[in-house]
Amino acid sequence: MEKSPIRKDNKPLLFDEAVNDFIAYLRYLGAMGCTGFALSRKTRDVLAGWGNDGAKAETLDEIQKDLGDCKRCKLQKGRKNIVFGKGNPRARLVFVGEGPGHEEDLQGEPFVGAAGQLLTRIIQAIDLTREDVYICNVVKCRPPQNRNPEQDEVSACIPFLTRQLRAIRPRVICSLGAVAAQTLLNTNEPITKLRGRLHYYEGIPLVATYHPAYLLRNPARKRDTWEDMKKVQKLILQRTEDRE
Ligand code: URA
Ligand code: URA
Repeated sequence: MEKSPIRKDNKPLLFDEAVNDFIAYLRYLGAMGCTGFALSRKTRDVLAGWGNDGAKAETLDEIQKDLGDCKRCKLQKGRKNIVFGKGNPRARLVFVGEGPGHEEDLQGEPFVGAAGQLLTRIIQAIDLTREDVYICNVVKCRPPQNRNPEQDEVSACIPFLTRQLRAIRPRVICSLGAVAAQTLLNTNEPITKLRGRLHYYEGIPLVATYHPAYLLRNPARKRDTWEDMKKVQKLILQRTEDRE
């Protein structure tokens, strides 16, 4: 068992010492099983500004402009449209899927096919609309035959998802399916192990649920998804209260 590194004497700490102590303490908490903190919006805004020289966080439009007519990975070859993401730039809830399918590639919008229609109903089930939330994917271009995105493709694309999530800073992230959960949480654990537990992504609570395409094939799992969505709803409300 690790020992708490916090000093027990009353001597004032020098700044560097205090920072090092704080880092050691966070490591200690991590070793004790702490995976994150529920921070207020104000605190997260302050943290997001650190190292930024007070510059404003970038906007989704700026990120999309930087993505441009992306040729950073081999998925560019088969795509018709880049699917950047869609919804409210100030969304309290962001859904992250895996990557565009056939319909999404044609329309340039996320989750507009059969799985998307189920996602729309899932969103409505917690009294929200697609316009309230933001929806995006790990990779922005359709993998051929809807195969899973490969490591080099995820690596090329993930900085854009990270920047989208930092720009929106939602109260809750809901990952859809194994690829999104494993990518955001940097783990190989199966989705069955990841769901039903609360995770954090850069301090933001993350609920990992099944992919709606999986639910279409396994409707019996909709009950689990409903449990996950009730958790999402509760987290949104909780974080409304500890804000402002
Ligand atoms: N499946 C996904 O993971 N994302 C979409 O946008 C559509 C289907
Ligand atoms: N396996 C997946 O890849 N996704 C799910 O949502 C469930 C099982």
